[in-house]
Amino acid sequence: MSQLINEADDSEKGLKKTLGAWSLIALGIGAIIGAGLFSITGSAAAANAGPAITISFIVAGLGCAFAGLCYAEFASMIPIAGSAYTYSYATMGEFIAWIIGWDLVLEYAVGAATVSISWSRYFKKIMETFGVHIPESILSGPWDGGIINLPAIFIVVLMSLLLVKGTSESAKFNAFIVGLKIAVVLIFIILGFGYVNSDNLTPYVPENTGTFGEFGFSGIIRAAAIVFFAYIGFDAVSTAAQEAKNPKRDMPIGILGSLAICTVLYVLFAHVMTGVTPYTSFAGKDGIAPVAVAIDHMGTANAQGLITPDYPWLNNAIILAILAGYSSVIMVLLMGQTRVFFSMSRDGLIPKVFSDVHPKFRTPAKSNLLFLLFVSLFAGFVPGRVVGEMTSIGTLFAFILVCIGVIVMRKSMPNAPRAFKTPWVPFIPIMGVITCLFMMVFLPLDTWLRLFAWLAVGMLIYFGYGRKNSKLQKGLKDGTHVDDNHQYH
Ligand code: ALA
Repeated sequence: MSQLINEADDSEKGLKKTLGAWSLIALGIGAIIGAGLFSITGSAAAANAGPAITISFIVAGLGCAFAGLCYAEFASMIPIAGSAYTYSYATMGEFIAWIIGWDLVLEYAVGAATVSISWSRYFKKIMETFGVHIPESILSGPWDGGIINLPAIFIVVLMSLLLVKGTSESAKFNAFIVGLKIAVVLIFIILGFGYVNSDNLTPYVPENTGTFGEFGFSGIIRAAAIVFFAYIGFDAVSTAAQEAKNPKRDMPIGILGSLAICTVLYVLFAHVMTGVTPYTSFAGKDGIAPVAVAIDHMGTANAQGLITPDYPWLNNAIILAILAGYSSVIMVLLMGQTRVFFSMSRDGLIPKVFSDVHPKFRTPAKSNLLFLLFVSLFAGFVPGRVVGEMTSIGTLFAFILVCIGVIVMRKSMPNAPRAFKTPWVPFIPIMGVITCLFMMVFLPLDTWLRLFAWLAVGMLIYFGYGRKNSKLQKGLKDGTHVDDNHQYH
C-alpha cells in the first residue's frame, strides 16, 4: 500500500496532476452518456422491456451504485492510476490483479471499439443529410456485410492522437462535449415531456411473450443487462486518480456524482422516449437511431394520423451532438485503458513500453499508439453486438471483483485511513456482487464463452511473461526488494 501511494506522489516522473472535482465529474459523464443511451435504449425497449425500460435503467443503475460506492472507497484510499487493477493488486495479490487488469481491456479498449462502431452509423446519417453517400462496404466489417468500418477507425485514431497530446487538453475537450451532451439530453426531455401520451405507457410492463427475456419480469432484467452498457465509464474516473489534484476528496465525488446525474437523466430520457411513441416503433432498423424516431413523433397528427414533427431541426442538431458525445466516450475509455496498462507495466506484468511517459507531453504516448492499433482492429472488423456484449460482461466481472475487494480490504487492513468509506459493509458490496452477477447471467452463452477464451489467453501471457518479469516475483525469488521509489536493492 505505502509503495503504491508513494508511487502516486512521485510527481516528478509521473503523470501530470491537473484534474479537480468538476473535471472528474465531467470525465465520468464524458464516458457514461453515449451509445448506451442514444442507440441501445430503443432496441431494448422494443425487444425486451417496453415502457418498463425505465425500471431496467433503475436496476442497472442500482448495480452500478453498489459497485460505485466500493470503487469510491478504494479510489479515496489508493489514488493510483489503474483503478480496479490496482485495488485488486493491493488486496488480493498479483494473480487476481492480473485477471482483472486483463479483463479491463474488455471494458475500456473493446468498449471504445463498440462506441466507435455506433459512431460510424450516425456519421453515415449526418453525411447523407449533406448529400454524401458512403458505400456500405466501408461502413461495416466483414461479418456485417462490409469490408472494413473506416469511420470507426477514423474516430479511434483521432481520439488516440488527442490523448497523446495531453490529459489537460483532453479534459478541456471533454468538458466542452459534456456540456453539449447534457444540453441535448435536457432539451429532449423538456421538449418531449409535453408529448408523452399515457396510451403509449399502458400497459407499463407488457406481458411476457412466453419466451424468457421477452417482456414481463425476465424482460426487464434482460433489458437491464443490456442497458447496463449505458452506465459503463463512471469507473473510468478512478483510472485518472493519479492525475487528480486532491484525489482523496474528489475521487468519490467524481465517481458517485457522475453516476447519480446520469441515472436521473437516463430514467427521464427513457420515460419520454417510450412516452411519445409506442415502444414497438423502435423495433428493427429504426432501433439504431431511436432518438430520431421519437423526435419524429413529437408533433401534431392530422386526420389520417400522419404526424408533422414540431421540431424537425432537432434531429440534425442531436445527431451532431451525439457524434461529438460518442467521441468523448471513446476518448475517456481509451484513456482509462492506457492508465490501467500503465500500472500493470510499472508492476512488471507487461512490457515497460506501456509505462513510458512522453518527455514533452507527459502522457503514456507509446501505449496510446499501441492501443490505437489494437482498438482499430476491433472497430474496423468485429460486429457491434459482439464487442458490445464483451464490454458488458467484462465490466460486470470487474465490478464484482471490486466489491469483493472492499470486503477483503476491511478485514486485511481495518485501520488504514480511508477518506471515503463504503456504507453498510458487507451489505452493499454483497448486493453489488448479486446484482452484477444477476445481470451477467442474462447475457448470452456465446458472450460467456468469449469471456473465458479471453481470460485463457490472459493466463497464457501471465504464466509466459508476467509471472517471470513481475517486480513482486523477482523480489521474492532473489531476495531483492523494491523500495518506495521502485528501485531494486
Ligand atoms: N456508457 C458508454 C456508452 O453508453 C460506454 O456509450
